[in-house]
Amino acid sequence: MPKTPPNVFDYHDAMIAAHAVLGSAAALLTAPAAILIGRYFRSRSWWFKVHVTLQTFTAIFVITGTILSLVAVNANGNGTQLTGRLKDPHHDFGLSILILFLLQFVIGVGAHYTHSAAPAKGSVFPTLTTPKSPLRHVHVVFGVIMTALMYAGVKTGMDEWDNVADNGTLVPKGIRIAYWVLFGLAVAAYLFGWILEPIRGGSERNSVADAGSMEKVQE
Ligand code: HEM
Ligand code: HEM
Repeated sequence: MPKTPPNVFDYHDAMIAAHAVLGSAAALLTAPAAILIGRYFRSRSWWFKVHVTLQTFTAIFVITGTILSLVAVNANGNGTQLTGRLKDPHHDFGLSILILFLLQFVIGVGAHYTHSAAPAKGSVFPTLTTPKSPLRHVHVVFGVIMTALMYAGVKTGMDEWDNVADNGTLVPKGIRIAYWVLFGLAVAAYLFGWILEPIRGGSERNSVADAGSMEKVQE
């Protein structure tokens, strides 16, 4: 509902727009790119460095974006809406993303310092069957769930803009279409990456114990 007639693009809206750009960059670009690098290029020496660098950008975007959302809500005299009467599903997603993302980041760093054996020869799904610390399995599963939450954060954020932007605009249809296209492509690419794993038969796509990998630890 526009609050500053007649439809002024005010400070609140500017903060939310910046918040939306950062949140979208994290959810639609850096996080899925980092995960796809892990899925497709785990046998390359550079995969881990790129994974960590991209996820560090994701962290910066999520943290800065959330701060901007707090500034925006506060600018309209609403304090914060993380709890209480005015909170809604987008705020719930936002707060959960912030907390779980930071946790996932720590789990990732922890996983890196655990041992992973070389994948068993001929294993169909080396990611699942390689003997390694449970922390690594947790990181993989939690990482996918975490990224799904971020996509939900962007979807609910777009719906929220339609309700609260002071300038009274709606999110353009093209942006919504771009969101669904990027979402579909990322899901398809990730699933295809898992299908490739048995096709490659575990021979090329070895996991972290690969000879040249930067992530080679405690061997
Ligand atoms: C991963 C991405 C995102 C996260 C983590 C996130 C997080 C948050 C949080 C925590 C709040 C509540 C702030 C408070 O209660 O003080 C919020 C509010 C909001 N967000 Fe997001 N958000 C994300 C993406 C988006 C996107 C893509 C859009 C728009 C296209 C958006 C639009 C909004 C709007 C309109 C509000 C409410 C502003 C108000 O009530 O005045 N968000 N967001
Ligand atoms: C900078 C902090 C991070 C470090 C050090 C790190 C480390 C790792 C490591 C060691 C693996 C391999 C696990 C294995 O042995 O199978 C991995 C894979 C993975 N990471 Fe991270 N990670 C970080 C941040 C993140 C974040 C924030 C996410 C999610 C948003 C994430 C999502 C994933 C996923 C989904 C995989 C599995 C990819 C696949 O399907 O093969 N990581 N990461």
